[in-house]
Amino acid sequence: MSSEQGRVSRDIESLVHPYTNLEAHLHKGPLIMERGEGVYVFDDQGRRYLEGMSGLWCASLGFSEPRLVEAATKQLSKLPYYQLFNSRSHGPAIDLSEKLLSIAPRSLGKVLYANSGSEANDAAVKLVWFYNNAMGRPEKKKIISRWRAYHGVTVAAASLTGLPANHQDFDLPIDRILHTDCPSYYHEALPGETEAQFTRRIVGNLESLILREGPDTIAAFIAEPVNGSGGVIVPPQGYFEQVQALLKKHDILFIVDEVICGFGRTGEMFGCDTFNLEPDIMTVAKALSASYLPISATLVSQKLYDKVVERTKELGVFAHGVTYSGHPVCAAVALETLKIYEERDIVGHVRAVAPHFQHRLRSLASHPLVGEARGVGLIGALEITQDKASKTPFDARNNIAALVQNKAVERGVLVRGIRNAVAISPPLIITKEQIDELFDGIAHGLDEALVVARQAELVQ
Ligand SMILES: Cc1ncc(COP(=O)(O)O)c(C=O)c1O
Repeated sequence: MSSEQGRVSRDIESLVHPYTNLEAHLHKGPLIMERGEGVYVFDDQGRRYLEGMSGLWCASLGFSEPRLVEAATKQLSKLPYYQLFNSRSHGPAIDLSEKLLSIAPRSLGKVLYANSGSEANDAAVKLVWFYNNAMGRPEKKKIISRWRAYHGVTVAAASLTGLPANHQDFDLPIDRILHTDCPSYYHEALPGETEAQFTRRIVGNLESLILREGPDTIAAFIAEPVNGSGGVIVPPQGYFEQVQALLKKHDILFIVDEVICGFGRTGEMFGCDTFNLEPDIMTVAKALSASYLPISATLVSQKLYDKVVERTKELGVFAHGVTYSGHPVCAAVALETLKIYEERDIVGHVRAVAPHFQHRLRSLASHPLVGEARGVGLIGALEITQDKASKTPFDARNNIAALVQNKAVERGVLVRGIRNAVAISPPLIITKEQIDELFDGIAHGLDEALVVARQAELVQ
């Protein structure tokens, strides 16, 4: 048995793979990555791939940034662990919080750490509930999310997520979580409806939901500026403006999930800057540490924080936190990441290369399999469709988006088939030439998938 076969069977025998068809994995086995260099990763056979998804929308600085390795090593030898419970603190957590608040939307005033985007969103939910108890509004607890939203997998975050697979058989969502329309004009518009009419209709539906449930029962609304894992949904113009007006009118808190959009992805530091959002709570993870180490944060407004302080004075403690909240090594790496973003003007770089990225993306809209090419900054998706005119998707069993993904892999390009979309979200350091390499690989994937779809007589 070769060492590769050995590792494949050891993987199959020992690992539960997240977000994997576990039965298919038993036959197919893993693709094992061994090292990274810039925007590329290399498998254990030495094959090179352009990581067109930055892993899971997260490796913003690619896979070989020596400064982050150094920051981690330095902190590991100085103070490898300490906690923030019980008024303990350490330099990396203090420095990072200060730095985060200096770049975050002005509406935010305090930082609470955790390890993942899911936990950060769970903390947001708990803070909203705690806040409304402190406000003497025990009935104002429901949280509205959106269909297709992705907010993670812990019990509250998975409930906020608006994807059937995250609910089905997990006995979710929990109660007090409601879902409203996904702002996808492509998927959800009625025949003949303009984008402006569509926006007014779905914001109207949101208001009807609030009124039906009773504004006194609705605590918060949560949204990603650009929804990622639901298929990269860019909201129509005016959507967030109208939603925010509605939230203000009914005294509903706004939680913005920046786990994917945060730190430059959309061409501004935050999705909040791109879409003019004023959050009461904002969650970040992924690119916060360029994903070199796990760390996430829930940023809250001073007003909300003050109320929480007031209540903990009565209760004696704010009984929330995880062992690794603000872990010093993760915080040191995150701080160094933010310094790199600033020194290298990573947001400026995204703005410089994004027009080329969007041009290459949108050029693929004419491909027979593509119903829509959409995106902003360095995030995008191609909607794979069986029939462009009627927007009919392929039957899920044909899995054509996954086929495009697999054919692109043959060309050394990693992108992700998500149901009927192919998602693209490369490291923010990608160059124009590498963007060409990325889209050449995707175009090859589309052409090869078209051949297969024609042979199967799924398209003409
Ligand atoms: C918008 C958004 N929120 C939350 C999460 C959950 O983050 P994590 O996987 O770190 O728990 C994700 C993960 O992809 C995400 O895309």
